[in-house]
Amino acid sequence: MEPKENAEYLKQEYWNERFTKEDHYEWLVSYKDCKQQFQEALPEDKMHRMLIIGCGNSSLGYDLWADGYHNIDNIDYAESVIQKMKDKYSEGGECSELRWETMDMMNMTYEDGTFDVVIDKATMDVVMTDNQDPWNPSEEVSERAIKTLQNVFRVLKKDGMFIQISFDQPHFRKKFLLDSQFNWEFSQKNIDHGLGYFIRCYNNRLTTLDIPTSKKRNQQVIAKSVCQFGQGVC
Ligand SMILES: C[S@@+](CC[C@H](N)C(=O)[O-])C[C@H]1O[C@@H](n2cnc3c(N)ncnc32)[C@H](O)[C@@H]1O
Repeated sequence: MEPKENAEYLKQEYWNERFTKEDHYEWLVSYKDCKQQFQEALPEDKMHRMLIIGCGNSSLGYDLWADGYHNIDNIDYAESVIQKMKDKYSEGGECSELRWETMDMMNMTYEDGTFDVVIDKATMDVVMTDNQDPWNPSEEVSERAIKTLQNVFRVLKKDGMFIQISFDQPHFRKKFLLDSQFNWEFSQKNIDHGLGYFIRCYNNRLTTLDIPTSKKRNQQVIAKSVCQFGQGVC
């Protein structure tokens, strides 16, 4: 299942092919590993509209649904996995409220300001997978990262939240996430688990998770980040 070289992870065909053979794989961490952080970060109203980008065959969408979050869209550009997930959970399964769509996260077709929360678990990691030098990312890597974030930023409501789970060190991601066009701000929290990964949340509201390292970028928009260590290998 693992590709010969990391650059394969960038190919839609790789994922389409992989998902024809694989039914479930949880990248980095499972929901139960970061449930507490999710619950602290997510809005209290569980009917807020959420989007999971690059959902793959992870059970994250289902696990959130089982926890009462019943307004979730899931997208992936691999058509094969979207059909499988629909069959498993929505059409043949118990939660018809979960929505699944084949869509490129770098070219999302949702209206501006559609979502309260966008979640990325190990998906932007794929976009950066051929980054030879994290201190000095290539133009291609930078373009993909910024395009992804522009799409996320566009589909998020003004007071929306972006939650990102990743293995990448915060200082390598900040470069993109804190680009001035997003008006996002960074703060973080570490949780020791597994090999060591990160959960970051960027939002426009201060919540109890905001910590003193957070520094306001402007008066209207405040983002926060939470770092967490998890399990698994990307
Ligand atoms: C490393 S896997 C993570 C899957 C899942 N989020 C998880 O945590 O287990 C990356 C996923 O992102 C999807 N993906 C990669 N690039 C994408 C893009 N441009 N648009 C939508 N999905 C993409 C792949 O098909 C794959 O399902």
